[in-house]
Amino acid sequence: MKKKLLALSLALAFTSTSSILHAEASINAGKEKAASCVSCHGDHGNSLVSTFPKLAGQNPSYIIKQLEAFKNSTRKNPMMNAIAAGLSYDDMTDIAAYYAVQEISANPLPVLNDDDEDEKPAGKKQTIEDLIALGSDLYRNGDLPREVSACIACHGPFGEGSKPAAFPALRSQHADYLIQTLTDFKNDTRSNNPENMMHMIAKKMTIEEIKAVSYRISMMK
Ligand code: HEC
Ligand code: HEC
Repeated sequence: MKKKLLALSLALAFTSTSSILHAEASINAGKEKAASCVSCHGDHGNSLVSTFPKLAGQNPSYIIKQLEAFKNSTRKNPMMNAIAAGLSYDDMTDIAAYYAVQEISANPLPVLNDDDEDEKPAGKKQTIEDLIALGSDLYRNGDLPREVSACIACHGPFGEGSKPAAFPALRSQHADYLIQTLTDFKNDTRSNNPENMMHMIAKKMTIEEIKAVSYRISMMK
């Protein structure tokens, strides 16, 4: 009996060591395969251009899902469609494993641009703090009468998303990319599935709400 247990625990120890080694190999391979991504997504997946999404710390299941969607053109973007066409499923898994363990960089406080100025209520000066407070409320509570679901339900209290459900992490993403992609969901230009929940949600949001929640999320760490 004791011998059997010993054999079993040795076998278990071996399996977990080998799966750790396998994960490490995948991360190392992913780093090499991601060399061609650096020009747009930055070192370690922290892009410097605010319309190119950061990939650092993203949930691997979500990265794989998006790369597959770009490859089969259900998510359309000319640059990414061409790039994903050349990736195998193994490449995607390795690249996702690499980005998942990188740390995302923090963003500076957003600066209001001229469009935001136009939307301030007459006679009242709307500050970036006002917009972030509006975004924070929407993120946590949604707007139930208008059927805007609370983001926290799927994207988590810290914007960490959900690995098993492939819900993306959002924290510290560039505000400009968030505004652009939420607008794409709203206009049906981003879609990889007819039942995409983000369509229903973004359609009910105003442009001001999209900006507010994007500014808020860009500040989450
Ligand atoms: C020429 C610039 C460019 C290069 C090179 C590039 N990307 Fe992208 N990538 C983009 C842009 C732009 C988007 C946003 C597309 C959109 O708005 O739908 C994007 C989006 C993505 C997304 C979706 C992110 C999200 O949050 O939904 C993933 C994943 C991704 N890229 C992975 C990669 C990988 C892996 C490589 C290298 C093999 C790569 N990209 C190379 C420009 C690039
Ligand atoms: C019912 C679950 C659910 C809720 C609630 C939800 N989301 Fe999402 N969200 C998703 C899923 C799933 C995706 C990935 C969609 C895809 O694969 O294209 C996503 C994608 C996104 C993206 C794209 C991320 C990227 O890296 O490209 C943004 C931004 C986003 N959601 C913001 C929000 C905001 C803001 C709210 C609240 C107003 C919200 N979501 C509420 C499930 C949800």
